[in-house]
Amino acid sequence: MKQKDSQASGKKPSKYIAREPDAQGYIHYTDVEHETWQRLIERQLKMVPGRACDEYLRGLELLDLPRDRIPQLEEISSVLRRETGWEVARVPALIGFETFFGLLADRKFPVATFIRTPEEFDYLQEPDIFHEIFGHCAMLTNPAFANFTQKYGQLGLAASPKERAYLARLYWFTVEFGLLQTSDGLRIYGGGILSSPKETLYALGDEPDRYDFDVLDALRTPYRIDIVQPIYYVLNDLQQLQELTEIDLMSHVREAIDRGLFEPRFPPKNAA
Ligand SMILES: [Fe+2]
Repeated sequence: MKQKDSQASGKKPSKYIAREPDAQGYIHYTDVEHETWQRLIERQLKMVPGRACDEYLRGLELLDLPRDRIPQLEEISSVLRRETGWEVARVPALIGFETFFGLLADRKFPVATFIRTPEEFDYLQEPDIFHEIFGHCAMLTNPAFANFTQKYGQLGLAASPKERAYLARLYWFTVEFGLLQTSDGLRIYGGGILSSPKETLYALGDEPDRYDFDVLDALRTPYRIDIVQPIYYVLNDLQQLQELTEIDLMSHVREAIDRGLFEPRFPPKNAA
């Protein structure tokens, strides 16, 4: 799930249309779409061993995702319900913040039921079903990650637009682009990284800056959604996500607003 509110952000609407289920609740995709899933998952399954954290890899095992077809959402929900009480919810390609936060607060992870076209195989801005399921759903089997994601939804629902913009940075540097230090070395848990082969290599390589996770720093760090990240924040333990659900996170948001954003480490989006 990336930035979704096209109206609020002034972005052009998505060219993608989420698939509706038939009368039996089954969502049909074309052969080309199933083949796109197969190419994406087979490529990325080779990337994640030794790079994704153990909790993610265990989640993938539990999900046992099909290789040769796009899974139906109920297949994912049945595993998530059993593990952490989460499920996935079918949504249109773009949804507003209210809907997004409301679903998360209800332990429902929004998934737009479309997959990228072959022309956008390596990068698309909108989060498609491969990003949502392969990127995020394995981690939603982990209680700390699952609880934090719900907390983010609850806080987002009650937050002002400005507070939401700060909260979104915390989500970005954890759920989407978080790294984890383990006894075996640096690992990935963020779904924005794990659904991209390029960023899976880059995030663990020499180029980006990596800092120990600090909630105030994450809230204050600007990001761009259309580039690989110049900065990542590294947890020492996924339990830190659980701890974030137990503190007064909004007091940190207010402090972050008082102090303001850090200088961006990237050029403005429309720079020549
Ligand atoms: Fe995402």
